[in-house]
Amino acid sequence: MSKKKRIGILTAGGDSPGLNAAIRGFGKAAIGHHNMELVGFREGIRGMALNQTVPIDSATLSGILTVGGTILGTSRDKPHKMDVGNGKEDMIPTILKNCEANGLDGVVMIGGGGTAKNANRLSKAGLNVIHLPKTIDNDIAHTDTSFGFSTALGIATDAIDRLHSTAHSHHRIIVVEIMGHKAGWLALGSGIAGGADIILLPEIPYSIDSVAASISKRAKGGHPFSVVAIAEGAREISDAADYAAAQALIDGASNADAKAAAKKHRSMLEAAHRGNALKLAEQLEAATGLEARVTVLGYVQRGGTPNAEDRLLGTLLGGAGADFVAEGKYGITVAAKGQSAKAVPLKDVAGNLKTVPKDHPWVSAARHVGTCLGD
Ligand code: F6P
Repeated sequence: MSKKKRIGILTAGGDSPGLNAAIRGFGKAAIGHHNMELVGFREGIRGMALNQTVPIDSATLSGILTVGGTILGTSRDKPHKMDVGNGKEDMIPTILKNCEANGLDGVVMIGGGGTAKNANRLSKAGLNVIHLPKTIDNDIAHTDTSFGFSTALGIATDAIDRLHSTAHSHHRIIVVEIMGHKAGWLALGSGIAGGADIILLPEIPYSIDSVAASISKRAKGGHPFSVVAIAEGAREISDAADYAAAQALIDGASNADAKAAAKKHRSMLEAAHRGNALKLAEQLEAATGLEARVTVLGYVQRGGTPNAEDRLLGTLLGGAGADFVAEGKYGITVAAKGQSAKAVPLKDVAGNLKTVPKDHPWVSAARHVGTCLGD
């Protein structure tokens, strides 16, 4: 009789609704259908490096489908430079050793774009890995969507709905900051669904004049209130140009020191641009004469129970992941394609961000209903 496969599982990166559905989806299929054994690692990649394991059996997987967050815990650690007390260390050799000591045939890494990169690093080092795509940002390449996005979209839309009635009652501008540093899917989707008057995305740099003109036009037309949905990473045109120049310096750096210096400069710009929503509200108040308020949705967008779509997607991709592991197919992201799952090589996903194309149908839909995109 062949030996039972023994598989490790972890969740990494920012938490998002549907992580437990995916753990359960993978686990039930692996244990119940494919007769495998499962071992959880606590707190993402850190758990693999520090060998912090937790046994997972059918009972562990029971009752978690509807629960938000992750039963395994998570962290944003990177395997090749992890802070383990005395500065950053390359923990990849230790991770490989720990996985071998635990008798693992492979590891399932559930996470976003950063996790795909880390999974690819470990895959290249020789570990059998598969990656299941989660993120509320919807920015993972080669997958139609990721679990977490749909729930966050619902939460942000609901918030915009609620902000509408208070903006209307007080004749105010309400600037609502929505998560998404590099990709504006969440701001765009919830902005359209919630009927935001202005939507600002990292992919489309904005001009204050254009946003203010659109608000003033609404006021003159009898609507002296506006809701502005701004993604965390949206920038004014001049700031976006500075940022693009910083990025070009990083890409063109001729050695490690130059790259590190360029990255430091980019981080400074990022820090300076943080809190853009507040600055925007002040600028709009001055430009339009209307009172402005700010609401930062923050972590509310990632907390709580997953909606039906994310439970379904987590279960589907988890189950398909167990099938791939049973076939011995590793080095992949289990991507969503229509209503199915598809294996995509990790090397194609890692480091490849899915941003909003300027000609995406959602962008056209927003423009068609008269939404100002700030350009
Ligand atoms: O990647 C998911 C996400 O929620 C982003 O939308 C947000 O910018 C970021 O995580 C926040 O990161 P952290 O949880 O580390 O504060």
